[in-house]
Order: sequence, then C-alpha cells, then structure tokens
Amino acid sequence: MSNTNRFVYVAAAIAAINGALFGYDTGIISGALLYIKKDFALSNFLQELVVSGVLVGAVLGAAVGGKLADRLGRRRLIFITAGVFVVGAVGMGFSPGVWWLIGFRFLAGVGIGIASIVGPLYISETAPPKIRGSVVSFNQLAITSGILIAYLVGYALSFSGGWRWMLGLGAVPALALGIGMLFMPESPRWLVAHGEEEEARDVLERIDDSIDHNEVIESIRDAIRQESGGSSELLKAWLRPALIVGISLAVFQQITGVNTVIYYAPTIFHATGFGGSASILGTVGVGIVNVLLTVAAILLVDRVGRRPLLLVGLAGMVLSLGILGLAFLLPALSGIVGWIAIGSLAMYIAFFAVGLGPVFWLLISEIYPLEVRGAAMSVASVGNWASNLLVSLTFLSLVGAIGRPFTFWLYAVVGVASLVFVYLLVPETKGRSLEDIQNLWSKRAGEKGDL
Ligand code: BGC
Repeated sequence: MSNTNRFVYVAAAIAAINGALFGYDTGIISGALLYIKKDFALSNFLQELVVSGVLVGAVLGAAVGGKLADRLGRRRLIFITAGVFVVGAVGMGFSPGVWWLIGFRFLAGVGIGIASIVGPLYISETAPPKIRGSVVSFNQLAITSGILIAYLVGYALSFSGGWRWMLGLGAVPALALGIGMLFMPESPRWLVAHGEEEEARDVLERIDDSIDHNEVIESIRDAIRQESGGSSELLKAWLRPALIVGISLAVFQQITGVNTVIYYAPTIFHATGFGGSASILGTVGVGIVNVLLTVAAILLVDRVGRRPLLLVGLAGMVLSLGILGLAFLLPALSGIVGWIAIGSLAMYIAFFAVGLGPVFWLLISEIYPLEVRGAAMSVASVGNWASNLLVSLTFLSLVGAIGRPFTFWLYAVVGVASLVFVYLLVPETKGRSLEDIQNLWSKRAGEKGDL
C-alpha cells in the first residue's frame, strides 16, 4: 500500500468512529432498558421516551448537521460532535433521575444525528474515486461493529445490571474520535470552497501524489462555479431528482423494517420459543452476520457498483421477509419452523448489510454538488431518522393490530416498491469523481430542458 493510500485509509478509519458512536448508542439500549426500568420504576410511556429520546435528538442533529458542516468545516464539526458525545455519555451514566437520563439521551442523539452526516461526508471528500465506495462504507462497518459491541457489553454487564456503565462507556470511542481528528486535515473540497487552496493542495498531495492537483482543484472550482445560489440551489429543478433519490432511499432504508430486527431481535427470538440467554446469543449472531456482510459490501462496492448491490440486497430482503412472515403464520414455531424463522432473520440482515445498509449512506455522500452537499445530506438524513422513529414506535402496535406475518409482509411490499424505485431512478456512481457525478444531474436536466 502506498503512503498516500495509507493516509486515506487512516483518515477514513478515524472518521468512521462517528459510525461506531451511532451504532453503540442506538444498540445499547435494548440491553440497558431492563435495568433502568427496575431502578427508576418506569411506566411504559417513560420507557418509550428513554428509548426514543436518542432518535428524536438524532432528527434534530441531522437537521442542523449539514448546514453546520458547510459553515464550520467537516473537521471542526467532528470535534464538536465528539465533545457532545462525551458529555451525553457521561451524563447518562451519572443521571440522578429518569428526566436527566432522557435529557442526556436526547443530547447524545443530537450527536448521533450530526455524526451520521459528517462521518460519510468527510470520508467521501477525502477519498480518491476508485476506492471511495469502500472507504465511505467503513462508516457502516463501524455502525454495525458498534451495534455488535453494544450487544456484547449489554450481555457482559447484564449479570451486574450495570446500566450506568453500559451507557457511560460510549464516552470511550468519543474520546478516541476527538483525539484522532487532532491529527487529520480538513477536507480538500471544503478548503477550496472556502478559498484556502494552498492548504487544499497539501491535503490532496497526501491523498494521492500521482495526480495533477491543479486539475483537481480546477474541477472543484468549476463545480462550485456551476452553482451560485447557496442553499436555495437545493430547490432548483436540476437537483430535484437527486433530492428525490436521497430522501426516498432514506425512507426505504428504514420502512423495510431493519430496526425492528436490530432493536427487537430478542423479542422476535423469544416468540420462536427460545429461552432468555439463547435469545441474547441469537441476537449476537444477528450482530455478527451484520458485520460480516458489511465487510463483503466493502470489498464489492467499488468493483460491482452501487446499483447491483442495492438490487440484489433488496430482492433478498423481500424474499426473507416473505419466509419470515410465513414461519410466523404456522401454528407451532418450535423445532424446524423456529429454525426457519431464525434462518430467514439472518438472511434478511445479511441482504440488508450487503446493500441498502451501506449503499444508502454512501450514495447520499456522493450524489450532491459541493455547495449544497451538507444541506442536502441533512434533508435525507432527517428523513432517515424520522422514519426510524416512526417504525420503532409503531412496530409493537402494528404486530398487535395485524399480527407478525402481515407486519413482515407489509415491510416486504415496501421492499418491492424500493426495488422498482432503485431500478428506475438510482444512478451508478462507481469510479466517477464527485464533480463528474454533479455533471451527470445537470446533463440529465439539460436533456429534459430543466436547467
Ligand atoms: C441504518 C440504521 C441501522 C443500521 C443497522 C444503518 O445503515 O441507518 O438505522 O440500525 O444500519 O446495521
């Protein structure tokens, strides 16, 4: 590996800690809730607030994160986010009462919302096109690893009921992120946009010393010149298709039900007749499949491209949801039927992890022009967190109202709609420079007379 490539990988690995915070904080609550409930004698409503506080905060964080990234710079914002996380995690660990806890979960959520944007954004802007897909997906690998670590920590501390430790430990990766970023530069694209070309040239030199940096800087300048309206550019006709692609993928990523599995896996295992600790082990298994197939996506995404991964991933998700629903329809879930249910659950997560999981976050870091990249990612990200909240809050009532089979089949139907959408509207971005992708939208609009 050349020095420059090593630099890109290190920068991506550090920025990806943003994803680890996202994964850990959203994943840890399933293990912690049981003990928090006992300690604070929580009603159902307060439990829901403790769980969804993070998601509500994340909607807000995603809403402001993009603008802040455009204004303050990617690097500075990552520092601030790390600080927000440390305060949130320590605060959760020391909460004297449930309202404090809800408040600090909300604060950590704001950090997660910002992190979900600025991590992929920073990596995408520092990576050369040929490896951009895989290094941006480091962020998703960190999310899935964060979830898996959260399951394991939850299990390890379940014997002592130490929920304060479970939540407080989130401060450790946050500190690592803050310290790591001290040694990383600002994104070259943000630097050019803010007139700091000398510094941008230095960073580009570290990223890839084999290319003509004047040409890269010129193409970034060109891309900026094409836009002139700041955020109002977002509303222009030529960008509408890109906005629609981002928001739709954001919503599809959630309303095909992934977090019903991530958050409620133990409950689902329980329903198939597994005992308490076997359910937890099963959940850890889900976490491992999620991590492994994300690695597969990282290896594939710059070779086969984004579209094939999305299409195959969605088709597999639809199929597994169909089987899962069928298994729950049968009268006895024990024995072979129980195993079929578990197999289809694992298959569902595997197909999510190889497609929609990483590729959604990757695409929204690629498909928007520089000047509005942060703001546009915010819009998509808000859509993602708001749908996440919606699905998390409605899953149990949906199961109560129409039963498990129809709930999973409903997600399958949405999966079919997503498949058609991707097939018809999502562009391939493999191997193109970010500036080239921007040209793709303006060319398409030009052909339609929309410019
Ligand atoms: C999604 C999260 C989900 C995670 C699971 C992410 O891409 O945005 O909502 O929990 O993947 O791996």
